[in-house]
Amino acid sequence: MGNELKGNGGLPLLFGVMGDPISQTKSPAMHSAALEAAGLAGTYVPLHVKPERLGDAIKGITALGYRGVNVTVPHKVDVMKYVDVIDEAAKQIGAVNTIVNEDGVLTGYNTDGIGYIRSLKEEAVADLSGKHVLVIGCGGAARGIVYALLQEKPGSVVVANRTIGKAQELADEWSHLGDISACKMEELANLLQESHIDIVINTTSVGMYPRTGELPIPAELLAPHMVVSDLIYNPLKTELLLRAESIGCRIHNGLGMFVYQGAYAFEYWTGRPAPVEAMRAAVLSSLQA
Ligand code: ATR
Repeated sequence: MGNELKGNGGLPLLFGVMGDPISQTKSPAMHSAALEAAGLAGTYVPLHVKPERLGDAIKGITALGYRGVNVTVPHKVDVMKYVDVIDEAAKQIGAVNTIVNEDGVLTGYNTDGIGYIRSLKEEAVADLSGKHVLVIGCGGAARGIVYALLQEKPGSVVVANRTIGKAQELADEWSHLGDISACKMEELANLLQESHIDIVINTTSVGMYPRTGELPIPAELLAPHMVVSDLIYNPLKTELLLRAESIGCRIHNGLGMFVYQGAYAFEYWTGRPAPVEAMRAAVLSSLQA
């Protein structure tokens, strides 16, 4: 039993991902594998939505009977205008990447940050409480991660950003959630020499394909006791991770974040545990295709 979950009119479940561009997305491969592994009849399709049609596209979710959609670049902020309910964490983060359609009521969630943290805990650091964490970059991705990270009661979180004002604003905004501070990139060397940092997380796009040789911080600042994590998954080992690995650091890449943001979305849509390994295998094989 248990497979009675159906779409509108008893049809297979409908899911999709809205973005612009969208042709390169790995989400359909990942979620199709998840539906199959879970024994659910359903379809997950890429949906090319231009910014000026986003409102209409969101209305289409209920009109067409989609059970849920993911929302990706450049719509994660604007989409908040068009859903009925916004989950508290998504509200704080200021971005939605997952919408659930419950009998015509659309609720927006952010699974990027919690997905990343679940991946970091399962793959690299089981317990984040008391840990001292350096986050490089302060854009949309960083906001999700820092918010989810602060729920884990870390010892401290330092946000370093090229534009220091943005990092300082974030530290001020969430000072009630934990020990969070901002650091200028030029002061990173002092910070890393003078205070103990357990985990370094790169949230910038520096090192992403095709500019794979670039480093978000000088590799000399890393030390072997650190766990070094990079949100990038193309390439699977960025220059930062290669350099970290070569000095003996434990490394963690962005593949898990992508898989687990999808896992949480799957769980919100279906109420079933996500078949994470089938999802990971599907993403890996579509990356190699
Ligand atoms: P995302 O949603 O992927 O986080 P974003 O909101 O555009 O994307 O944020 C990108 C982050 O990477 C920002 O913190 C940006 O720094 P600024 O706030 O100074 O723009 C950082 N970033 C991007 N390219 C960078 C580069 N070449 N060097 C340093 N930081 C960079």
